[in-house]
Amino acid sequence: MNEQHPRVALVSGGAKGIGAGIAARLAGDGWRVVVADRDPAGAAPAGGRYVVCDVGDEVSVSALVRSVAAVEQRLDALICNAGFMIRKPIGDLSLAEWSSVLTTNLTSTFLLVRATEALLRAAKGAVVTIASTRARMSEPDTESYAASKGGLVALTHALAISLGPDVRVNCISPGWILTKGPEPTAEEHTFHPAGRVGRPDDIAALAAFLVGPESGFITGAEFVVDGGVTRKMIYPE
Ligand SMILES: NC(=O)c1ccc[n+]([C@@H]2O[C@H](COP(=O)([O-])OP(=O)(O)OC[C@H]3O[C@@H](n4cnc5c(N)ncnc54)[C@H](O)[C@@H]3O)[C@@H](O)[C@H]2O)c1
Repeated sequence: MNEQHPRVALVSGGAKGIGAGIAARLAGDGWRVVVADRDPAGAAPAGGRYVVCDVGDEVSVSALVRSVAAVEQRLDALICNAGFMIRKPIGDLSLAEWSSVLTTNLTSTFLLVRATEALLRAAKGAVVTIASTRARMSEPDTESYAASKGGLVALTHALAISLGPDVRVNCISPGWILTKGPEPTAEEHTFHPAGRVGRPDDIAALAAFLVGPESGFITGAEFVVDGGVTRKMIYPE
């Protein structure tokens, strides 16, 4: 990579978890990484820039992207990773809670891509969205999250068609990636055909490939990274 003019990536929700893993991987690969997260205590990897931003808010996204245009003056990759889940029976789920999940998990990608389109087209860049295997399978009481991730899978192929050939747009649907909570049990690890629960590095490696030069013929695709769980047929004993 050209060290005078490194490629620039914008990672939403990059203060921790999968987003922080992607930001660290890209920085290690020589990218300048701008992290946009609503957590005021977060940080960008060395050589990058951290912006406190609620990516579901139109005005904040507009200010974020203006700052990228002014400071970095280019954008080669956009990673739409920010997301969260509310787990509640549908009868108890308020419209405000439903909307907050849809806004962060789905609408933020619309806002970020709309605001960065000109920069991404100029750079012949790439977008990666982070959906979930929950776009296609569910536990009870996760309606808003499942709907937001299903929407994101569909938004990804719509964007790939609209923005091509300048900009490629792909989706990663992770399964269980250990970012919080207790260490999984041995049984939880071996339940996965791959033999273990996932790590942020597993997602970061694919994201780095999808924004890199070797994935030029890949757009509009969804990649399931779940250790094989959604391919496993399960019947009661
Ligand atoms: N961890 C998993 O097992 C898993 C599985 C499938 C999909 N995902 C998806 O991967 C993404 C990252 O998950 P994670 O486990 O790393 O989550 P996490 O909770 O560890 O980190 C999410 C980050 O996003 C930020 N964020 C949340 N809402 C935001 C907003 N409106 N604006 C800006 N920043 C915001 C948070 O502050 C946090 O830093 C999410 O979209 C999640 O739905 C995770």
